[in-house]
Amino acid sequence: MSKNILILAGDGIGPEIIAAAEQVLQRVNTKFGLELTWQHGLLGGAAIDAHGEPYPAVTASQAANADAILLGAVGGPKWDSIERSIRPERGLLKIRSELNLFANLRPALLYPQLADASSLKPEVVAGLDILIVRELTGGIYFGQPRGIRELENGEKQGYNTDVYSESEIKRIAKVAFELAGLRGSKVCSVDKANVLEVTELWKQTVTAMQQAEYPNIELSHMYVDNAAMQLVRAPKQFDVIVTGNLFGDILSDEAAMLTGSIGMLPSASLDENGKGMYEPCHGSAPDIAGQDVANPLATILSVAMMLRYSFREEAAAKAIEDAVGQVLDQGLRTADIMSEGMQRVGTVAMGAAVVAALGGE
Ligand code: IPM
Ligand code: MG
Repeated sequence: MSKNILILAGDGIGPEIIAAAEQVLQRVNTKFGLELTWQHGLLGGAAIDAHGEPYPAVTASQAANADAILLGAVGGPKWDSIERSIRPERGLLKIRSELNLFANLRPALLYPQLADASSLKPEVVAGLDILIVRELTGGIYFGQPRGIRELENGEKQGYNTDVYSESEIKRIAKVAFELAGLRGSKVCSVDKANVLEVTELWKQTVTAMQQAEYPNIELSHMYVDNAAMQLVRAPKQFDVIVTGNLFGDILSDEAAMLTGSIGMLPSASLDENGKGMYEPCHGSAPDIAGQDVANPLATILSVAMMLRYSFREEAAAKAIEDAVGQVLDQGLRTADIMSEGMQRVGTVAMGAAVVAALGGE
């Protein structure tokens, strides 16, 4: 049966990186006879311009009917001054939350060809392969009450609530344990249990689960400040990291930089049934939009994740990842991963090179 993908290019460099990824999708679709179809929709600033809101009903209904979603990036200075509740980022948070995409997988994998693009010494990062499992629909991002209020003395006060229920912790921990079982069998749960009750419950819940259900997975715990330090000190000690929404947001950017460029990292956001939204970890980079310099590889690798997790097409997923390895072997580099002796290419040429490396036509 044919499967349907919704493509949301978004803002800034979104349309360019998506165009490159779409070529790749087209090629694997034919080459592997996947029978995937896709349509386009609007999210973020592009949707605000067309419909006055970042996640309009028309996009919501397209998203509900899709088997998977491929997203570019949202946001930009053009929409920074509009009211907070309808900013582009709110569209992203809303689609995550409404579709229940609670499990955010952010792999930080170092391509050996890029070891010297990392700001850390090559020996510290060589062979790096970390998977960050970030809870994506709860915690302080969504907790109530939240807002900015005026105190009796007239002073303003901003406030948010960090909250996790046991069931939310269990379902994300399950994802982490299961995925760890398919790779290095180690999970590090990151918290701030020395200060925050919400993460004390997190720690207790994850510990109880490991004891009862995952005795073969090695579980460790780390405070988030230490984890931030360990990631740059000795990142290879980690296999799977599981953590809440805010800590995961921060640590995944940090882990991304270990690999040389955030422009290389894909992500998957999954619901309980494997329906997912796939997007690069980087943002919309408005400063370089429209210049054919953005790195499309994170988006292309997000297509690979989509084929793997939503469609169980491992061979096609692997073919894309191998093709990316090949173009790096050929010495092709976008500006963000450029180093001496390599050939600098733009977004379009990089996408075309991956398509060519896939072969099949
Ligand atoms: C991310 C981004 C988003 C987040 C923003 C754009 C709302 O930083 O996907 O990591 O904080 O989750
Ligand atoms: Mg982030």
